[in-house]
Amino acid sequence: MSDIPALDLPRLPDPHATAESLDKSVLFQVRGRVASVTGDAVTVQGMTAPLGSLCELQPPGAPATLARVIGFDDTRPILAPMEPITRLAAGDRVRLISHSLTLRVGQSLCGRIVDAFGRPIDGRPLSDDLVRVDVSHSSPDSLARPPIDQPLQTGVRAIDAMLTCGIGQRLGIFAGSGVGKSTLLGMITRGTNADRVVIAMVGERGREVGEFIQRTLGEEGLKKSVVVVATSDKPAAQRLSAAYTATSIAEQFRDEGHNVLLLVDSVTRFAMAQRELGLAAGEPPTTRGYPPSVFNLLPQLVERAGRTEKGSITAFYTVLVEGDDNNEPIADAVRGLLDGHIVLNRKLAHRGHFPPIDIPQSVSRLQNHLVSLEISQAVLKIREHMVKYDSSEDLISIGAYRQGSDPRIDAAIAMRDPINVLLQQHSDEQTPMENAHQMLKTIAAAQTTPAAPTHAAAAHPAAATNSAAPTPQAAG
Ligand SMILES: Nc1ncnc2c1ncn2[C@@H]1O[C@H](COP(=O)(O)OP(=O)(O)OP(=O)(O)O)[C@@H](O)[C@H]1O
Ligand SMILES: [Mg+2]
Repeated sequence: MSDIPALDLPRLPDPHATAESLDKSVLFQVRGRVASVTGDAVTVQGMTAPLGSLCELQPPGAPATLARVIGFDDTRPILAPMEPITRLAAGDRVRLISHSLTLRVGQSLCGRIVDAFGRPIDGRPLSDDLVRVDVSHSSPDSLARPPIDQPLQTGVRAIDAMLTCGIGQRLGIFAGSGVGKSTLLGMITRGTNADRVVIAMVGERGREVGEFIQRTLGEEGLKKSVVVVATSDKPAAQRLSAAYTATSIAEQFRDEGHNVLLLVDSVTRFAMAQRELGLAAGEPPTTRGYPPSVFNLLPQLVERAGRTEKGSITAFYTVLVEGDDNNEPIADAVRGLLDGHIVLNRKLAHRGHFPPIDIPQSVSRLQNHLVSLEISQAVLKIREHMVKYDSSEDLISIGAYRQGSDPRIDAAIAMRDPINVLLQQHSDEQTPMENAHQMLKTIAAAQTTPAAPTHAAAAHPAAATNSAAPTPQAAG
């Protein structure tokens, strides 16, 4: 990552500009002074500025720092720096520079890596064909959203077959740390048939960003993607903006008629950034220290995805569940806002079952509107087998279950390997959706036959996958 270019924002008129340009502008400038600094909150006196507007902190002899208005102390604006502050003292000058954050977006952003301000961080300049948009967009009107009725291929069999996702649907990926969220997002990026992919990396460790882009995403994944990065060391206001910036880029692609896939990793760190800002602005902490504004911003963010008359944004939001507690407040709030959730299970990862998607715990709420009745029934049968096996697993694993005691457990044991062949997938492997559905139907049909084959190979239509990668081994 090389030098980041200076921020190019449309600015409010500067009265010190030439007389010629002054003729066309308003002779007006909003200036104030730093009154106090508490943590990340800078209180300013002598001026007012609208919520969300951008100001410049101007310490003498040091570079100016961009800051956003996040609240008010009585009538005095409270600013949160969007860049690290190098030096600041009470009395330093502050100037309002823009009423909102804007960025340049368009087709030529594909394959590029940008920061939360839309500035390239991959060492190449942006091309001139980009258009400027405001990041604080409102969501599409609910009545202007066509129904979600077409499936979107992710290339991941466990999702396409068991948790089919629709074009314009919004899903959460819930997992503890290190269980496999980023790897799954990389698989989806490479395997999807969406026209464009926009990835927001919010609050990731710096080391992981390069690793994700080079290894997990790879050249193939990056070609049709735009990656927006705000690492954990960036100020909270910048981390928060990264999710909006990615959403704005996706919206522009959608307006141009594309089916876009938006991946936000993670919405929990977006919520944590707002927690820092909300508390700095004087909001009261509620559940686990999250102030009310967090629960207000989450729906505003996720509602911007979805389908419109022009195109679509299908979105996956990863949710970090602390201590694998799926009921923590952000997980709970996000689950209620989305059209489905995919739960990653640490136990499956420990067994080497990848991707570690816990099918019985996961749901795509729109699946039945997207697939045929035959597929819906096959999914139901396989879920029943999985639940039956899980509930009897302890008995089976210690050898206490005797074959023939319960025909449903016998069937669940017999179908265990073929189901695992469907669900397990090497991270380099991509399967077209029709092939995933074909495997699903074959497995579901096999268990209804009285002399059902019990070996994985017998029920696995290996010929149905046309992937170059090796067939995964059944495990678990
Ligand atoms: N599909 C997969 N195939 C093989 N290994 C995998 C797969 N998914 C995850 N892993 C293993 O799990 C590890 C962690 O995965 P990953 O980085 O995707 O998790 P994460 O949930 O994004 O972690 P973090 O919370 O730190 O961001 C990987 O280094 C890899 O060893
Ligand atoms: Mg990760």
